[in-house]
Amino acid sequence: MRHMACIEDLRQTARRKVPRAFFDYVDGGAYAEQTLKANCADLERVKLRQRILVDVSERSTRSTILGEQVSLPLALAPIGLCGMQHGDGEILACRAAQEAGIPFTLSTMSICSIEDVAAAVDKPFWFQLYVMKDRGFVRALIERAIAAKCSALVLTVDLQILGQRHRDVRNGMTVPPEWRVKTILDIASKPAWALSIARGKRKTFGNLAGHIRGMENINSLSHWIAGQFDPALNWKDVEWIAGLWPGKLILKGILDVEDARIAAQTGAAALVVSNHGGRQLDGAPSSIAALPPIVEAVGSSIEVLFDGGIRSGQDLMRAIALGARACLSGRAYIYGLGAGGKAGVARAIEIIRNELDVSMALTGVTGIGDIDHRVIAVM
Ligand SMILES: Cc1cc2nc3c(=O)[nH]c(=O)nc-3n(C[C@H](O)[C@H](O)[C@H](O)COP(=O)(O)O)c2cc1C
Repeated sequence: MRHMACIEDLRQTARRKVPRAFFDYVDGGAYAEQTLKANCADLERVKLRQRILVDVSERSTRSTILGEQVSLPLALAPIGLCGMQHGDGEILACRAAQEAGIPFTLSTMSICSIEDVAAAVDKPFWFQLYVMKDRGFVRALIERAIAAKCSALVLTVDLQILGQRHRDVRNGMTVPPEWRVKTILDIASKPAWALSIARGKRKTFGNLAGHIRGMENINSLSHWIAGQFDPALNWKDVEWIAGLWPGKLILKGILDVEDARIAAQTGAAALVVSNHGGRQLDGAPSSIAALPPIVEAVGSSIEVLFDGGIRSGQDLMRAIALGARACLSGRAYIYGLGAGGKAGVARAIEIIRNELDVSMALTGVTGIGDIDHRVIAVM
């Protein structure tokens, strides 16, 4: 992995190693992918201010997120089907994150279950919750996350209905894969991937399989999931979940100032400014465009986290300078996982850390607390 110079190198390697349908599932976004593209393009437009002759010999990227010490203001975002990029992907990514000193978030739609990951790692991780119509199942999931000692619950609030991803439709992307000749030939040409998946603990949604009565068969499970996202989800449900969860609650998927103000009054510890990585409302603003007004509106009443388009340490610096406490990384680490398993995730984190560190030096700052509007160049 040492020859991977940047996240784009990991992406190109993942593209070669992971079957097309699964790579595209990660790489793509909703509809015309305008918001997906805007996430990265708008970040690139934020220019950093080069400063000189400041003593930057003693630098640190350490910070805190929700009071937790972190070596870098970054957490790994929840990624559904993470374990389809590499066998046992969730366990490998969680280990890489914990070794690097940053939080890992396990998705409701993961391949390895909450219990699989808890048994395989030493420290607590975050659990992301999708609210299903079956509220008994939601309650059971929360209880499982409590039993596994998860240190935060990330409630995703921007997926009451699924945005269409054209690439998934064209590729026949399903779990398990739709067996087209093209798919079989593609998988046959990726033997290392196939072997890692074959050796992995599970081949389907670990948090769901075996926990829903009558859904032992994979195809009926996929059918159940498709009908389970709840368009009726509303702020009252947030109250209900906050009542069930004794720990820190994070609301993920806020892009609007008015929603942010309401979120700040729920008692949640943090919100994540996010458009789900451009996978939901196409035509929505980029996350970075939404960040400053939200930070201004909520002040210090709630911790503001950020995701969408982070592909480098420079991007991380831009988001922090514009008011984020820390960022979540989605695709950047998933490309690493597809490219090289645990070592690939570790490399993705290392790349971002090194880029942040050098950017700090070149903008004349020595600590994360010093990164603010002063590191942004006025154009
Ligand atoms: C392949 C993929 C799967 C995702 N699955 C979930 C999920 O299960 N739950 C969730 O809250 N967000 C999910 N997201 C959104 C991410 O958590 C995060 O918001 C997004 O990836 C950030 O954008 P970035 O990929 O540009 O870093 C997913 C994103 C991707 C790319």
